[in-house]
Amino acid sequence: MTDASEHEPTGEGTSFWLSCHEAQVLEALLSRDTARLEEELVETGAEAPALAQQIEELRRIGARLRQFVNRFEPIPTAPRHGSAGDELPGEEGGSEADVFEVIHNRRSVRSFLPRPVQPRDELAILDALRRAPSAGNEQAYSVVLVTRVDVRGRLAEAAEGQTFVAGAPLVLVFCAIPARSALVYGERGAQLFSLQDATIACAYAQLAAAALGLSAVWVGSFDPRAMGRALEVPEGTVPLAMLAIGHPAEAGEATPRRLLSDLVRRIQ
Ligand SMILES: Cc1cc2nc3c(=O)[nH]c(=O)nc-3n(C[C@H](O)[C@H](O)[C@H](O)COP(=O)(O)O)c2cc1C
Repeated sequence: MTDASEHEPTGEGTSFWLSCHEAQVLEALLSRDTARLEEELVETGAEAPALAQQIEELRRIGARLRQFVNRFEPIPTAPRHGSAGDELPGEEGGSEADVFEVIHNRRSVRSFLPRPVQPRDELAILDALRRAPSAGNEQAYSVVLVTRVDVRGRLAEAAEGQTFVAGAPLVLVFCAIPARSALVYGERGAQLFSLQDATIACAYAQLAAAALGLSAVWVGSFDPRAMGRALEVPEGTVPLAMLAIGHPAEAGEATPRRLLSDLVRRIQ
């Protein structure tokens, strides 16, 4: 675990936020108490609904607290074109796709072959999203990975009946954790940076999937509450975007774009 002293609230006004150290201490105490109550429940037998409810509540709070505990690790650098170096997880030195080629050829194809995403491709996508930039490197997001058919069905329902979501063998749901960014940046962290952190990670995953020859369709139209229920996301975690990923069943059409001159204004 990293030292979170730089994140310690300093002024009066910021002491409302929980520091990483405080979260760690509380989480440890809570885990101990939860384990004690679970033992008690076993001894008491099944006739203790109040105790079971208490344990459930402690587990819920424990999950919330864990969102504030920083656990970082160094990440290896990928080899440059043609040079030896550390390899990506699951990478066996294959050829690297040119980033512009990937950007130019990416298409949102909404029908998928009934073929799973290979574990090494899944890992490469996850590794890529983790490398996305984030405000203060707080990485104020979480990702829910779904392959289960029944849950994919519920996600499709939550996405206003977009059935192709259920047909995608792999679905990643990107969620913001506003309180994690708020710890450092206050309201701007909660209202903006955590959303940006989550969606940049989503964009990285989308490009990584495209580089692997997969289609990854960004799905933003969904009922966040239905989504939260389908995924049992912890309180304080906000689902923002989904990627429905799989092997495309068709080539996909290039969609048009606005004129650069309509999108970009140069300050002379
Ligand atoms: C924020 C956002 C929300 C989107 N929501 C949906 C969606 O709910 N359903 C869908 O089929 N596509 C959705 N898309 C995909 C866009 O429709 C698609 O990217 C766009 O039409 C351009 O096509 P392309 O991705 O093939 O270039 C979304 C994309 C973004 C960035």
